[in-house]
Amino acid sequence: MKKKIVILTGAGISAESGLATFRDAGGLWEGYRIEDVATPQAWRKDPALVLDFYNQRRKAALVAEPNAAHFACVELEKNYDVTIVTQNVDNLHEKAGSKHVVHLHGELFKSRSTYDPKLVYDISGWELSLGDKCEKGSQLRPHIVWFGEAVPKLEEAAAYVRQADILVVVGTSLQVYPAAGLVDEVSSAAEIYVIDPHIPTLRSRPKLHTIAAKATNGMAQLLQELVS
Ligand code: APR
Repeated sequence: MKKKIVILTGAGISAESGLATFRDAGGLWEGYRIEDVATPQAWRKDPALVLDFYNQRRKAALVAEPNAAHFACVELEKNYDVTIVTQNVDNLHEKAGSKHVVHLHGELFKSRSTYDPKLVYDISGWELSLGDKCEKGSQLRPHIVWFGEAVPKLEEAAAYVRQADILVVVGTSLQVYPAAGLVDEVSSAAEIYVIDPHIPTLRSRPKLHTIAAKATNGMAQLLQELVS
């Protein structure tokens, strides 16, 4: 049986595809305040601004291509049973060809009804507008988990992390909970690899390996170590 790898990814894995991260210098949260665009309160106060924020991000993601780090995740599937648990909403893991992706924070290319959250729709272009309605006549909102909202896929993701033989953490500052807490779910027998130019603070543990590098170089090093 193949060993199980869970790869927990954040905005840093898509940085080399030209998509901005959130908390780096020049990151998205320098240009916007979270409470203005990424909370249920923001949606109630100024839905047009919220839609515009996600429209801009969707426009960028639409033309972005996966990079070598995303493809390395796919490469690992030859030898391992791979689950991607991503905080990213850009769909670059799917574009690269990863077969099993759990989206913790939703997906940019989907919308859902404000009336019934189970009514989820694909967005074909990049724009979602005020007046775009679900089949029951309610406004559509981005299919994104906003700050203060529950993370519906959390338990599913945690179950994969608990079963992992290897946990790889790539390109996340681990500042946002509950996603960051997934690292603590891993078994003490599992190896943990953390790939990031600025290694986030983590509880020290015997099987922790840090690779202080950008995602593309770091994932290449990881492939050499795990597939040889
Ligand atoms: N390769 C790998 N990592 C990189 C690269 C790169 N080329 N460039 C930057 N990074 C790292 C940074 O060092 C940082 O640790 O990516 C991380 C990005 O952190 P954040 O901007 O905080 O992004 P993320 O951890 O994904 O944010 C979590 O916050 O606002 C929310 O919902 C949003 O899902 C997001 C969540």
